[in-house]
Order: sequence, then structure tokens, then C-alpha cells
Amino acid sequence: MMTKVEALAEVARRVAACKRCRYEPNQNPVPGEGNPDAEIIFVGEAPGAKENETGKPFVGAAGQFLNEMLNSIGLERLDVFIANVIKYQPPGNRDPLPDEIALQLPFLNKQIAIIKPKLICFLGRHALAALLPDEKRTISQLHGQLIELKGQAFLPLYHPAAALYNGGMRQTLLDDFAKIPAYMDKISAG
Ligand code: URA
Repeated sequence: MMTKVEALAEVARRVAACKRCRYEPNQNPVPGEGNPDAEIIFVGEAPGAKENETGKPFVGAAGQFLNEMLNSIGLERLDVFIANVIKYQPPGNRDPLPDEIALQLPFLNKQIAIIKPKLICFLGRHALAALLPDEKRTISQLHGQLIELKGQAFLPLYHPAAALYNGGMRQTLLDDFAKIPAYMDKISAG
């Protein structure tokens, strides 16, 4: 049996080996990182420029805000796992195309299967659409509301980048984050 650390490293190797996933020949893979035993996974859309440079998820401006929100509920990045649907920076930060999502989503699904988090938080509509494709409601309708489906809990949240320069959305995101501890208690209580 592989340990979780080994299994996650194997996913990262497969991401790095995926030539078809790259938009440019020498791009850095950004597979995701964090605690293999995390109870919470945060799923964003795709790496941006800073993430492409460093190979780490959410290390730019949106990542700073994510760190701040984690800290606001007593969590550090090392307590959780942070990943994206798409593992390479799309050209000009454009939205990922459906066939790109189909190609790369198995990596995220494998990471989730290894970690077995209690809660999966969507950061923005792309994560929601990729992981709950049958959900017809939008992130504006669902943000901050716990969804329990087939034994898994999900929490849709606005994307921190969208909230960065929008004061109202920023506060909404902080308020939604503040609900996470109580949701975790509820999930653990069953
Ligand atoms: N935005 C994302 O969706 N993911 C990142 O890793 C960084 C910014």
C-alpha cells in the first residue's frame, strides 16, 4: 500500500509527465500542495503567472487573500490542501476549455480520493462546474451554503481573485469562510 504522501507524489509526477496538459513546452506544473491528511480541500480554477513561476497554487494576490481568510478561522495553509482543476497556466489566463477540463480533472479527482477530505470548498464557478456538473444553480446562489451529496460535503465560495477588488464580495467571502468551523462540526457529528 502506498502512503498518502507517496500517492500524492505519484499524481504530481503524472501531472508533470502530461505533455498534452501543457500550453507551452517548458511550463511548470502546479499540481497542488498541502496536508495529505487535510480535512478540507480548496479547489481553484487554474494557475496564474505567479503560480506558473513557482509551481505552487495560490501564491499571488488571490493566494495572499486566501491565506488571510484561512488565518481568520484559525487555519494555516499547511492544515489544508490547495489545488486547482487545471494544473498549468492557460494562455493569457483565459478560462479553461471543456476538453482541457476533461483531460485534467482526473488528477484532481485522484487527489480527492487519496486525501478523502470531509469538506471540498470550491473557489469560484469553475471548480463548482467541474466537480458538480449537474448543479444548475450559480455560485451567486450557492455561495456559503453547505451541499451534502452522496456522502461528501461541498461548500461553494466566491473566487478570492473576484473578491480582491470588490469590497462587498470580499466581506461576503470572509463571512462565508467564518461558517466553515461550524460546518466542520456538523459534518463530523454526521
Ligand atoms: N487562481 C486560481 O484559481 N488558482 C490559483 O492557483 C491562483 C489563482
